[in-house]
Amino acid sequence: MIVEFKNVVKSFGDRQILKGISFGIQEGEIVFILGTSGTGKSVTLKTLVGLLRADSGEVWIDGENVTHFKEKDYLPIRKKCGMVFQHPALFDSLSVYENVAFGLRKHYNLSEEEIHKRVTKCLDLVNIHNVEDKLPQEISYGMQKRVSLARTVAVDPKILLFDEPTTGLDPITTNAVNQLILNLSHTLKTTSLVVSHDMHCALDIADKIIVMDQGEIVARGTPEEMKSCEHPLVKDFLKEALDVH
Ligand SMILES: Nc1ncnc2c1ncn2[C@@H]1O[C@H](COP(=O)(O)OP(=O)(O)OP(=O)(O)O)[C@@H](O)[C@H]1O
Ligand SMILES: [Mg+2]
Repeated sequence: MIVEFKNVVKSFGDRQILKGISFGIQEGEIVFILGTSGTGKSVTLKTLVGLLRADSGEVWIDGENVTHFKEKDYLPIRKKCGMVFQHPALFDSLSVYENVAFGLRKHYNLSEEEIHKRVTKCLDLVNIHNVEDKLPQEISYGMQKRVSLARTVAVDPKILLFDEPTTGLDPITTNAVNQLILNLSHTLKTTSLVVSHDMHCALDIADKIIVMDQGEIVARGTPEEMKSCEHPLVKDFLKEALDVH
């Protein structure tokens, strides 16, 4: 397992948000976490990369128990785990180009030519053209989302964490982003954990699907297994996936 949650509990005040969740991800897998709003999906991702800490239970990444890691020990983990946040978190004062180049400059010692090649390739992957010199606030929300995806992918993380990468994007770009996740996992053997509302995407590209409700995992399995799952929430998600498409 490259990622493992063992009975992770997380509360804010007297509200228990994660009620002891356990799951594992094998290297190279694409795992989707589906669930209704407010169910603890983003909290799960943030606990994984140490932005939030579990109250109890264990978090394992690439063979290391990171549950009680100090902030500085987390730095190499964050390089290994690229996270694309739910809402694009770009640097306001840096151009699109410099936003994507940022991690490359920080983590690698590359020539300007190599940086240029890599930035162009990553912007290409998310279908962004001719806005390299613009500031984030000068481009649309959907474009900002794709730039933040390009920025995360640029540094070649071993594990990619996506928080609703396609919410708010048009169907064509949604397709392109899903293809990108699929390609990365096939060509680079990247492991992907994708938080989503979109059962249709999950059925399309996931190796495994986890369904959460109110801080608990209520169903899990392959897309095929999900299609015959009797849990009411899963059936709702399936119905919506079939209705819309
Ligand atoms: N830092 C925080 N402090 C206090 N409460 C928080 C914090 N972060 C999340 N919560 C609460 O935890 C619950 C789960 O939040 P989370 O963001 O994980 O939901 P989600 O499943 O990602 O929902 P959505 O699909 O709307 O993004 C919510 O009730 C939220 O208000
Ligand atoms: Mg969320």
